[in-house]
Amino acid sequence: MANILRDPRQHPEAVVGDFTHPDPVRTFTLDDVAFTYGGRFKQRYFTKRGDDYFPLPAQWDVAKKKWLPYHVEAGTDWWVPFYGPANFDRPTGPTCDGCHSVNYDVRTKQVTEWNVGCEKCHGPGSAHVAHATKANIVNPGTLDFVRANDVCIQCHSQGRPLHNPIEGRYFDWPVGFTAGERLADYWQLEETKFGTTNFFQYADVTSHKNRMQGNDFVQSTMYHRQLRCFDCHEVHSSAVSSLPVSGNALCLACHTKENPAGLRGTVSEHTHHAAKSAGSQCTACHMPRIEQTIKDNYVAAHTFRFITPDETEKSGIPNPCTSCHKDKSNGWAREELAKWTSTSPWRVAQ
Ligand code: HEC
Ligand code: HEC
Ligand code: HEC
Ligand code: HEC
Ligand code: HEC
Ligand code: HEC
Ligand code: HEC
Repeated sequence: MANILRDPRQHPEAVVGDFTHPDPVRTFTLDDVAFTYGGRFKQRYFTKRGDDYFPLPAQWDVAKKKWLPYHVEAGTDWWVPFYGPANFDRPTGPTCDGCHSVNYDVRTKQVTEWNVGCEKCHGPGSAHVAHATKANIVNPGTLDFVRANDVCIQCHSQGRPLHNPIEGRYFDWPVGFTAGERLADYWQLEETKFGTTNFFQYADVTSHKNRMQGNDFVQSTMYHRQLRCFDCHEVHSSAVSSLPVSGNALCLACHTKENPAGLRGTVSEHTHHAAKSAGSQCTACHMPRIEQTIKDNYVAAHTFRFITPDETEKSGIPNPCTSCHKDKSNGWAREELAKWTSTSPWRVAQ
């Protein structure tokens, strides 16, 4: 994973937003910026007041190369009612920094390191540095699947601490949790409500916003079968999405004909598209990009569920068929799916 939090004085190359041309949306200059945050989809900016940081009121849309306002609106994040309305009423300590640093101390407001450092996934490491043994460091690779996934879910989820406020403030990250423990002892995932579409979820409880891979993945049969996030992601790598291989090769490494989890026939027999078609990419149907990270920019769902045309009609959640075949109706997709003998019409064409 990349280091997304940078001091622009030390790392001017990290600044992706346009600070040279005036823009009515951007009401601050680079001199006000203590940290830049992100840069893949969006970049946000923090300024320092006293010993707290605060988000500045504009963000850079990387794809569209333009400034957008940045303000967490009422009716979005659960913590909004507990803070004043202005960005300067909302320090980043309780609302952001726990996931973007190592060892954020809720009393002293100090961190040992910004960004996703080793200790966030491997637990405290000073004893290990002094005298390295396998026993004095957490290796997520040898934890049980719940604890192993919890290492990732501590940051890649929406939820709230079991007990809030802490030190008088409302925290949006699992205060006190360290890798190797059970996250459920500190944190509850955002409550799912079937049939409701809101900021966090679609009606079928697929996540609606980004950074909810954990909320999604725990719903998947792959999680139930004890897969871990890092069975697919190579987290020490800085490849796009930290994927070790691109395209269907990742999925087909396990989903072989020989494997009980595998496809029964060829890829084409499963997808009903030519093998090289965009309609034969596993991610196109099982990881549709429907979770919003910034306006008009979406990341991949991690429930791995196939969303049916019928669900689109019932609740508006986009299905992969008519998202790609934009000129076709849900009725068309349902009729096509009803012809497939590789899957049951009871499940996908009702
Ligand atoms: C519960 C943990 C958590 C909290 C709290 C959190 N983040 Fe993040 N943030 C993440 C994770 C994980 C990512 C990685 C990308 C993703 O999954 O969306 C991320 C990514 C980002 C990015 C980079 C996106 C990009 O395009 O490169 C920015 C900017 C960001 N967060 C800002 C914030 C701000 C501002 C706050 C506070 C208002 C905040 N985060 C609170 C976990 C968190
Ligand atoms: C985002 C989480 C994360 C971060 C940050 C991280 N690691 Fe890891 N690390 C893992 C996971 C997960 C594994 C197990 C991977 C596997 O088995 O596929 C691992 C495995 C390892 C291993 C191999 C252990 C073994 O004996 O097999 C070493 C060594 C290691 N990490 C060192 C580091 C160092 C040093 C850093 C900081 C520079 C670091 N890691 C940062 C998640 C992380
Ligand atoms: C079965 C494989 C698999 C598992 C398990 C998996 N992912 Fe992913 N993940 C992917 C693929 C493939 C992509 C790229 C999707 C795309 O861009 O079309 C991806 C993308 C991502 C991204 C980039 C942003 C996005 O959502 O597109 C993040 C962050 C991420 N995964 C985190 C996680 C976390 C955290 C877990 C565990 C809770 C997890 N993943 C489990 C396969 C997997
Ligand atoms: C301390 C919080 C934290 C933890 C723990 C964490 N992540 Fe992340 N993750 C982030 C942030 C922040 C980013 C955004 C980095 C960026 O934009 O490059 C990110 C980005 C990613 C990405 C996308 C990389 C890309 O292309 O930008 C993947 C995939 C991912 N994380 C998987 C994992 C997995 C798997 C684990 C568990 C082994 C894990 N993360 C643990 C905070 C965390
Ligand atoms: C490390 C092995 C592994 C990898 C890699 C993998 N899978 Fe799986 N997958 C499994 C297992 C095991 C199951 C569970 C099969 C069962 O018990 O019925 C499964 C089940 C599934 C299911 C059934 C429904 C569900 O809720 O999970 C889908 C869909 C699926 N995988 C899609 C994918 C896609 C898409 C990819 C690539 C992004 C992928 N898998 C990568 C092992 C893997
Ligand atoms: C064009 C859409 C589409 C593509 C592309 C696609 N699938 Fe599927 N997949 C489906 C549908 C539809 C189902 C049935 C879902 C259900 O019954 O709930 C399904 C079901 C599955 C299942 C559950 C067991 C089974 O065979 O029914 C697995 C595993 C799976 N897909 C893996 C994959 C893998 C791996 C790829 C990439 C090689 C892939 N899929 C590509 C549409 C697709
Ligand atoms: C990521 C894009 C994508 C997705 C998702 C997708 N398709 Fe396609 N589909 C294509 C493309 C491209 C073609 C053109 C022929 C080819 O490449 O196979 C096509 C061709 C077809 C055709 C034959 C030509 C036609 O237009 O009549 C049918 C039928 C079809 N798709 C049905 C579906 C159904 C049903 C689903 C959902 C299960 C689906 N597709 C999902 C991209 C997609």
